[in-house]
Amino acid sequence: MVVPESQEKIYHPPPDLQRDAHVPDFSSYLEMYKKSLENPEAFWKEVADEFFWKKPATGPMLQYNFDVTKGNIFVKCMEGAKTNMCYNVLDRHVKEGNLGEKVAYYWEGNSPEHHKTITYGQVLSHTCRCANVLKQLGVKKGDRVSIYLPMIPELVYTMLACARIGAVHSVVFAGFSSESLCERIMDAQSSVLVTADGVYRGDKLINLKQISDETSWDSDRDVWWDEAMSDSSEECEPEWLDAEDPLFILYTSGSTGKPKGVVHTVAGYLLYTFLTFKCVFDHQPHDVYWCTADIGWITGHSYITYGPLANGASSVLFEGIPVHPHVGRFWEIIEKYRVTKFYTAPTAIRLLMKYGQEPLQKYDLSSLRILGSVGEPINPEAWQWYYEEVGQGRCPVVDTFWQTETGGHVLTPLPAATPLKPGSATFPFFGVEPTILNEHGEEVEGEAEGYLVFRKPWPGIMRTVYENHERFENIYFKKFPGFYVTGDGGRRDKDGYFWITGRIDDMLNVSGHLLSTAEVEAALTLHPDVSEAAVVSRPHKVKGECLYCFVTLKDRREFDKKMVEELKKMVREKIGPIATPDFIQNAPALPKTRSGKIMRRILRQVARNERDLGDLSTLSDPKVVEVLFSQRSEAA
Ligand code: PRX
Repeated sequence: MVVPESQEKIYHPPPDLQRDAHVPDFSSYLEMYKKSLENPEAFWKEVADEFFWKKPATGPMLQYNFDVTKGNIFVKCMEGAKTNMCYNVLDRHVKEGNLGEKVAYYWEGNSPEHHKTITYGQVLSHTCRCANVLKQLGVKKGDRVSIYLPMIPELVYTMLACARIGAVHSVVFAGFSSESLCERIMDAQSSVLVTADGVYRGDKLINLKQISDETSWDSDRDVWWDEAMSDSSEECEPEWLDAEDPLFILYTSGSTGKPKGVVHTVAGYLLYTFLTFKCVFDHQPHDVYWCTADIGWITGHSYITYGPLANGASSVLFEGIPVHPHVGRFWEIIEKYRVTKFYTAPTAIRLLMKYGQEPLQKYDLSSLRILGSVGEPINPEAWQWYYEEVGQGRCPVVDTFWQTETGGHVLTPLPAATPLKPGSATFPFFGVEPTILNEHGEEVEGEAEGYLVFRKPWPGIMRTVYENHERFENIYFKKFPGFYVTGDGGRRDKDGYFWITGRIDDMLNVSGHLLSTAEVEAALTLHPDVSEAAVVSRPHKVKGECLYCFVTLKDRREFDKKMVEELKKMVREKIGPIATPDFIQNAPALPKTRSGKIMRRILRQVARNERDLGDLSTLSDPKVVEVLFSQRSEAA
């Protein structure tokens, strides 16, 4: 890793940011990084000392096996220690740190008229009440609680209430369908579901309770939040948990179509989200931080709930969408709360870019210091616009690469330390050791392109797939023994910068959300008139990628507009609106090898209208390809 001297345009950290930064320059980063790898014990111990431990650890900071050939995969952090996440992110600040009056969240509703300010003291009291309500409902340590709520403070209270009593929360994004919700409730075997009657997103009303009632829920057991909370005490002793007890399950798409319940545990996740938030956003006491993600995704768990609260930060919690009631809403909110650190996704940037500079110019964005990007590769055009127009050339852009599985940032610039190359997630965070492997699992030195993998764990990495450790080992550790396999392609350039080249499995990234082609195919083939379906990705100007579907119908049915609408509806109902296909085309037959395997490469080329197909000799019937080209769908 070196400060590059190349021809490419490099963006150096602004000196005024470097003055008080936690990691003030590149050599400090290198020094700390070296320490984190050479002496992880001392490095993480120092981080752990910030927190309250009911009992100290008896084991080392990190223990692990990453090699399937040597036994089961495991990662343990601070074995023997007892603590409580909720205590550390709330009571510690209120009781020991005098932050009771400090704002934890500026809640901003879907409509600009709805907003409120919530202090750390208030979050603590609501959380304790909620914890007591859950206890009254019979929830005990280790029980799972599903949460299907919009971006309202009650979502944070419920997560923290679970953490307080040792229950394991499973938040389901409130844009998922009842079937997806049901699948996640069943897999987690949750005993309680916390939901809301409904929410407006923009002009659209989403009836969450009605959607929930389509699951196998027994309405006799329903309890109203306000009634239960008003009778509930503000006192609730935290449950002291083992460092490796589960904190939450969060489902993410699996390439087989069945979502994986990613499990994160208490101590490691606390240390890692705390430190990444502190360093990557260079958190300072007077910051107002805003992450626009939904808490239903990992970005919200780590960087709206746990990381910011662990740091005693003040955050904006936004219920709405970027274009309601007008396309300047993000900029209006930045001005309103004097936001200093702003974290969003490339898809949002690309969407807002379309409206030009005018909406930006109406607002004062001079409070901004650092900009962040997450969820997908950021294209150079979007990076430039973000840096020049939003950040006014003054704010470093931290392009954070990570996954639900990694718990927190793993490749990321540090704003006062790392010279930036637009589109690169730059270098590893402390404790993280990435490398690039070729097809044979061999490490490639220097400039390289191949599989992005990690050689050793960091405290915040997932521990297992809920109730399916074998699946965990198979997905992430079998392909290249000794490494955690991200599923992403990566490139290391001559200066050691990492670039994400996209998924190398059957996953695609629509607006920063991972979907598996298999899960969409399964939804399409549920339609009684479909005999076969194959789904591929196609580039999309705003979403990054979108779904292009090929369906083969049974003889009895014509492929027409009505059919396309029925299929879209099917996918929305099975998975949720985020998975709605942009293109559905008739495929009288699919291109297959002689052994019957669908040749997705060809389908991707049809979807993109790329006619240079190369070698088709393995196809059992090459004529299929011409037919597919002749029936391409251009209708969005
Ligand atoms: O493909 C990578 C992409 O998003 C995937 C992880 O998705 P998920 O678990 O839903 O978590 C998203 C939020 C952390 C990765 O495997 N991805 C995420 N961040 C970036 C990215 N691709 C390129 N650059 C990024 N900064």
